[in-house]
Amino acid sequence: MSYFNYRNGELFCEDVKISDVISKVPTPFYLYSGTGVVENFERIDAAFGAADHTIFYAMKANSNLTLLKKLAAKGCGADVVSGGELYLALKAGFDPEKIVFAGVGKTDEELTLAIETGITAINVESPEELQAVQDLAAGLGKKANIALRVNPDVDVHGHPFISTGSTFNKFGIDWKEAAGLYARALKEMPNVNMMGIHCHIGSMIFNMDYYKASAQRLKDLVVTLRGLGAPIEHIDIGGGLGVKYDQPMTMTIDGETREEIVSPNPTELVEAILPILEPLKCQIFFEPGRSIVANTGILITQALFIKNTRGKRFISCDSGMHQLIRPALYGGFHFVAPVKENTGPCTNADVVGSICESSDFLAQDRPMPEVKRGDYLAVMTVGAYGFSMASTYNGHPLPPEILVEKEDFKEIRKAQTYEDLLTFMV
Ligand code: LLP
Repeated sequence: MSYFNYRNGELFCEDVKISDVISKVPTPFYLYSGTGVVENFERIDAAFGAADHTIFYAMKANSNLTLLKKLAAKGCGADVVSGGELYLALKAGFDPEKIVFAGVGKTDEELTLAIETGITAINVESPEELQAVQDLAAGLGKKANIALRVNPDVDVHGHPFISTGSTFNKFGIDWKEAAGLYARALKEMPNVNMMGIHCHIGSMIFNMDYYKASAQRLKDLVVTLRGLGAPIEHIDIGGGLGVKYDQPMTMTIDGETREEIVSPNPTELVEAILPILEPLKCQIFFEPGRSIVANTGILITQALFIKNTRGKRFISCDSGMHQLIRPALYGGFHFVAPVKENTGPCTNADVVGSICESSDFLAQDRPMPEVKRGDYLAVMTVGAYGFSMASTYNGHPLPPEILVEKEDFKEIRKAQTYEDLLTFMV
C-alpha cells in the first residue's frame, strides 16, 4: 500500500498535494500519512488473527505524540527504552498494562518510574539489573513484572549496527544462563514476578527462518522455566520486520512503473512462529517499529545549489545528515523523488546536505533527473528513525513535522527557532 503517489505530475500524500504544504511550511520538514500509520498497525495486528497476542509499537522509531496517540487509541501497546519514552507513552495514553521497557542501561530513576507505573514487563538484560529491580521494588513495597531478555545467539546477517541477537552483542542474557537466573529469582527475589521471556535479534529482517530459530530457542527455554515453577505468561519475540527501502512507492521512473513492496508480509512472520509458540499457550508479544512507520513518512528538502565538479554532480539541499542520519550511519538507501515529477533523462548525482562533514549525504551516485536551484525533493520512507535520530548539529534548529489525513494537513511539531537553540544554555 502506498501513501505517496504522483497525480498529474505532482507528488501527493493521500489527497494532499505536497506543493500545497510547501507553500505554507518552509522546508525542510517531515510529513507523515496518518492513515498509513494506523493501517500498518492494523495489518500487523490482523496477521496474528485469533492468536492471543499484543503489538507493542517500538516508539524509538518515531515518538511524535500525535502518532503515538493514534496508535494508543487503536489499542496498540508501546515498547519503550528510556524514562523519557515511558513518560511520552503515558502522556500519549498507552495503557500501562500495555507497555514493555527494554534497554541495557536503565538507571535507578527509570526503573523506579517503571515499577511505580506497574507496566506489563521490564525486559531485564543482566543479572545485576535483575538484582537492582528486586532491591528497588522491595524498597517501594511493590512487585515488578519481569521478562528476561535472552540473547538467543541467532545471527540475522544484517548491518552490524542493527543486529543484536548474537552472543558478541551487548544485548540480553546468554540463553544458556537464563534458566539459572530464573531459578535464582524464584528462590531469592520475592519482589520480581518472572512472568515472561523476551528477545530481539535485530532489525531489517527479511528471512523468516531467523524468527523461527529464535522462537524455537525461546520455546525450549519456556518448557525448562515452567519446569522450574516460573509462571511464564508471555513470549516477546522483539521487533525487526524489514522494510524495502528501494521500492517505496508506486511511481513511474524512466518510463518504468515501480510497485511498492513495503516489507515482508506480517502474515509470513506469523506463519513462521505460530506453529512453534502456540502450543505453549502463552501470550505472544511483537514489537515492530520500522514496519509501522517507515513507509508513512517523507522528508521534504529544497535544492539550494547544483555543482558539477570533475564530472560529478552535487545537489546541495537544505537538509542533511543532521535530519536523516541513516545514509551516513548505516549506508541506508532512501529513494529521492522530485516533488514535481520529472520523467526526463537521469544522470548520477550525490544529494548532499549543508553539514560540514563528507559523510553528509542523503543519496550517493544516484540516477537523478535534472534538478535546478529552488526545486523541491522528497526523501522517501523516512517515517522510522528519521526525525527520532535528528539533531541540531551545526546549529540547525529541528524541522517541523506535518500530519496528512485524507485531504487535510496540520503541523504536529513546530519548527524550532534560533532562540530555541539557546534553551537550557546557562
Ligand atoms: N524491540 C527492541 C528491543 C529494539 O531494540 C528494536 C529496535 C525494536 C523492537 C524495533 O525494531 P524495528 O521493528 O524498528 O526494526 N536506527 C536503526 C534501527 C535501530 C533499531 C534499534 N532497535 C535504523 O535506522 O535502521
